Amino acid sequence: MSKITIEGGHQLSGEIKISGAKNSAVALLPASILANKKSVIYNVPEIKDIDYLIKIMELLNCKIEHKEDALYIDSSEIKNIPIPEELSVQMRASYYFMGALLAKFGHVEISFPGGCNIGARPIDIHIKGFEELGAKVEINKNRYSITAKKLIGKKIYFDFPSVGATINIMLAATGAEGTTIIENAAMEPEIVNVASFLINMGFKVRGAGTKRIEIEGCPKVKDGVIEVFPDRIECGTFVIMGALLGNNLKIKGIIKEHIEALLMKLTEIGVKYKIEEDVMTISKCENIKPTYIKTLVFPGFPTDLQQPMTTLLTQAKGKSIIEETLYENRFKNTYDLNRMGAITNVLSLHKLEITGPRKLKGTKVIATDLRGGASLLIAGLIAEGTTEIESCDVILRGYSHITSKLKSIGAKIEITE
Ligand code: UD1
Repeated sequence: MSKITIEGGHQLSGEIKISGAKNSAVALLPASILANKKSVIYNVPEIKDIDYLIKIMELLNCKIEHKEDALYIDSSEIKNIPIPEELSVQMRASYYFMGALLAKFGHVEISFPGGCNIGARPIDIHIKGFEELGAKVEINKNRYSITAKKLIGKKIYFDFPSVGATINIMLAATGAEGTTIIENAAMEPEIVNVASFLINMGFKVRGAGTKRIEIEGCPKVKDGVIEVFPDRIECGTFVIMGALLGNNLKIKGIIKEHIEALLMKLTEIGVKYKIEEDVMTISKCENIKPTYIKTLVFPGFPTDLQQPMTTLLTQAKGKSIIEETLYENRFKNTYDLNRMGAITNVLSLHKLEITGPRKLKGTKVIATDLRGGASLLIAGLIAEGTTEIESCDVILRGYSHITSKLKSIGAKIEITE
């Protein structure tokens, strides 16, 4: 297990570039098997989740070449091999092979996906969607066997706008006869990224980014090409770091519309920044006001930025409240934040109170999940003394080259095996 060591209190200046979005890329790789023979995916982040997805694709007999930040995928000789549990549990996104393999072969065998332990995270909406398209789903303990002689397009209503289910049903629907309509679809930017990839292959996808998406199969599929959007969560994490430690820090690759909820909150609590084209310039805010944040689906405040934001709010003057509406186990980072000197109080499974401002002190902490790890990393950057983050591999699951990027803007940070 790797360890990150940070000497806190150093200003951040210069320019940092946002990498490709984890949650887009992890869907685009499985989606690539729907292309005629080959796909190119540009701007792929170098993160552990991608490494595991490549392992699954290679097991399926896809040939993958990495050139700079692009992945060249040849799926012309793909085989529909059952995906073993030891690979599927490595990440959440392994569930996208359900939709993609079902569309391609009419059958898939895979175990329940993994991912951060931040709540129950069922996949019932995905399963219900596959069944509505005509698939038979057999579940034996953790193992899913999904089969369809023929998938037939249909109007499907989601009880909740799940990101994963929206993408999975879009993927499955490319193999269905007729038109599939998803009502109450999720609207996150990664869904638009996946829809563009499918459109480039020749499928008809209308309405991605809205609550109603229509998908139609295509008799003559082309090769696939797509560029991964910049990662809005990595971006938000850097913006939060800039508000705490920036000295004219420049963040490149901003898509303002993707992080609007964060920007509005930052303005509300007194953080100042400037955006010119895709570059934000941000400096330390000396007088942060407390606030109330409720995590919501896009375009609401993203749950994935709730934990990094918690660290920022330890520096606000007064009491802040975070209401986490998506997950019931996403405050685990607060245990170590308190050990570093923060005052946070978990009021219920979904409500956290933060009292600031507090001086944080470096100590040994443990990253329990990806974004919780990011929140501790930010805490380490602002703390007095040295912070050691153990089990930091979870952070590397989602942040590309995090230590070298931060070093390049002035952080004193090292990673050791
Ligand atoms: C995706 C992201 C994750 C992010 C989350 C919410 C990926 C690989 N992961 O996760 O980083 O935190 O969106 O923005 O893209 N739910 C059900 N049944 C289902 C599906 C979801 O009850 O079948 C619930 C979940 O438990 C959760 C909520 O719906 O409470 C949102 O889940 P969803 O949008 O599906 O998130 P994930 O795809 O797991």
